[in-house]
Order: sequence, then structure tokens, then C-alpha cells
Amino acid sequence: MKFFVDTADTQAISELNDLGMVDGVTTNPSLILKSGRDILEVTKEICDIVTGPVSAEVVALEADAMIAEGRKLAEIAENITVKLPLTWDGLKACKVLSGEGKMVNVTLCFSANQALLAAKAGASFISPFIGRLDDINLDGMDLIQDIRTIYDNYGFETEILAASIRSVNHVQEAALIGADVMTAPPEVIRKLATHPLTDKGLEQFMADWAKTGQNIL
Ligand code: G3P
Repeated sequence: MKFFVDTADTQAISELNDLGMVDGVTTNPSLILKSGRDILEVTKEICDIVTGPVSAEVVALEADAMIAEGRKLAEIAENITVKLPLTWDGLKACKVLSGEGKMVNVTLCFSANQALLAAKAGASFISPFIGRLDDINLDGMDLIQDIRTIYDNYGFETEILAASIRSVNHVQEAALIGADVMTAPPEVIRKLATHPLTDKGLEQFMADWAKTGQNIL
């Protein structure tokens, strides 16, 4: 499973990248707002840190304007993935931009039929939003499973990018289903390493080691 970091915080991206945990980055207008940075400037900086796909989202709502914004974003770096919303205009822009050889991430996907359309429009990635479905008492993992089945049934190469991940359980469940990629905030990725029994076991080992009076170095 590829790990993308869902943030525009360049320091957090750098730290995780140094650990080899970053296969790509996803951003959106809310994350750009949170960063307080200029979109073109911060996206360029992210592309300089990470070699994998970096999603930068258009903000136009009409296809021709989305295409123009997508082309401009794609000029930032080779690894830019143009992020488009799952609307008919977004799908139209997806068809054009993917036809130009640009990577496209179709976002705000909440149904398997939407994912089917994105694949037919040539999307490189489809982003189903797990947490936001859970927020309205639906099971976001059912959507990941349905898309996996449909894509496998027909051999679509669009990668399932599990998004709106809020917990370590989301990561595990998406991995078990076979999502190709997950994108999560840095704090969720950091939490993947923690377990209370690891902490407890380490504490016991340290206490016993101190009693031996030995040193390794
Ligand atoms: O990748 C999409 C993600 O940023 C949305 O997450 O937590 O705002 O639903 P959230």
C-alpha cells in the first residue's frame, strides 16, 4: 500500500519523507488555507521534497476553467497530479487532462458509480472519502470494497486512494480490502507505530536491563 500524506505542512512532509514513509502528498483548498501559504509556492516546495505524486486541486467549477487551472498547476513540477472534483465538469476536465498525459486525482467520491465514471474518464487516482461517509452514519469501508470489486471486475487501472482517513483502524481496514493508496494526516501516520503493549514491554525491558548493570557501548 502506498502512503500519501494529506497535508500542506512542508515540515511534517519532510520528517515523514526522511523515514521513507511518503510515497506522495495530497492537498486541497482547506489544507492550503491551513498552511497559510501561497498555493503555487507551497506546492512547488512540496514537489521539491517528494518524488512521488503531489495532488494540487483546481478551484474552478466549469470544465474549461478547470482545464486551464490544471494545466497551470501541472507546470509546477513533473510529479503534479491535478485534483478535480467528481462532477460532470470535473470528469470532462479529467478526460482532457489525462489525454494530455497528466496524472489526475478525482476527489470527493462518495459512491461506486462515481468511481466507475472516474475510471472511464481516465483518472489515475480515485479518492473515496471514508471519514465523511462515517460522519453521516454510513460505512466508508463498504465503498472502498465496492470500488475494489468493480475495478477488478473490469481491469480498470485507476488506483483507489482511500482518503478522509481519520484513524489507524481506517488504514488497516483499507489495506485489508486492497486500496492501492491511502492518504492520511501526519498525526495518523505517526500513530501507526504506537501500541500500548509495545510501551509496556519496553518499560519492562528497560527496568530489567538497568538491574543487569551492563552496557552495550
Ligand atoms: O484527502 C481528503 C481529506 O483531506 C479530507 O479529509 O478529514 O477533511 O474529511 P477530511
